[in-house]
Amino acid sequence: MSSLMEKPKLILKEIEAFVPKSIDELEQFRIQYIGSKGILKTLFAEIRNIPNEQKKIYGQLVNEVKQAAEKKINLFKQQLSKKDKHDKQQIDLSMPGPGNNPGSRHPISIIRQQIIDIFHHLGFTIAEGPEIEDDWHNFSALNLPPDHPARDMQDTFFIQKDPDIVLRTHTSPVQIRTMEKYDPPIKVISPGRVYRSDNDSTHSPVFNQVEGIYIDEKVSFAELKQTLYYFVKEMFGKNTELRFRPSFFPFTEPSAEMDIAWNKNGQKEWMEILGCGLVDPAVLSNCNIDPDQYTGYAFGMGVERIAMLKFGIRDIRLFYENDIRFLEQFSPAV
Ligand code: PHE
Repeated sequence: MSSLMEKPKLILKEIEAFVPKSIDELEQFRIQYIGSKGILKTLFAEIRNIPNEQKKIYGQLVNEVKQAAEKKINLFKQQLSKKDKHDKQQIDLSMPGPGNNPGSRHPISIIRQQIIDIFHHLGFTIAEGPEIEDDWHNFSALNLPPDHPARDMQDTFFIQKDPDIVLRTHTSPVQIRTMEKYDPPIKVISPGRVYRSDNDSTHSPVFNQVEGIYIDEKVSFAELKQTLYYFVKEMFGKNTELRFRPSFFPFTEPSAEMDIAWNKNGQKEWMEILGCGLVDPAVLSNCNIDPDQYTGYAFGMGVERIAMLKFGIRDIRLFYENDIRFLEQFSPAV
């Protein structure tokens, strides 16, 4: 019996002598002594073998053991975790560097630059303009007078009503500003952000366009087609099929939309990628360009739509969520 009474005392000594060197050792100690299958459990269980008159003393002894173990754990836990942190902060100068993450260009920037490069080869220069536009440049000069029903084609964000100030709904106003400022020949593309109150898997309230305009003497629809053929072959490959469909825009006459053929699950499908046409003489007059002397063509396309086709992306919102797993799939920065 007496050995049973001795046991807690021996264990208490063991505990007091214990000095852990690491957090791991301390954890081992905790499991060994006060864990659910630990020594203290056994000590407590043994109380039923202790004669009744000694049970009280035995109980007190075991409690002392328990408190000693807990005290030890708390004390070293603090000390060791400080030490652990400190050890981790030591810099090992011989260690190889963590490497650098070069990042990648955003898919929209990649495609936008490709479009710019292609038109650059054809002699187009870049024109830029404000994203907050007045009514004249975004609508009226483009042959869209107030109350013209075609204004409904573009779901406009208004910043101010009467006189109207809007977030530009296309980059055509940049072309108006260019024509107001320079005499023909004019050959510019205007890449930039545009805004429309539209939001689903294929429309975003903010998206990017590249529009182009060429004004000179005797510019014809044939030249427009040739330019766009060149663009499509460069952008999508020389075997890409394309077609023009008659359409309507207030600022061009005649107007067309251009589709390219693409493969959807083994089936050929047509996808509209841009609008175009010959600049309406009224638009030229609005910019003080003589429509009897000059003609021109214009076209406009959405960068996201082209990027979706090129990269096989189904949801436009992926471009704006900035999920690193999506973004890192595109080419590294150059
Ligand atoms: N501005 C038109 C749009 O945003 C595109 C376009 C430009 C159409 C030039 C024809 C000519 O939808």
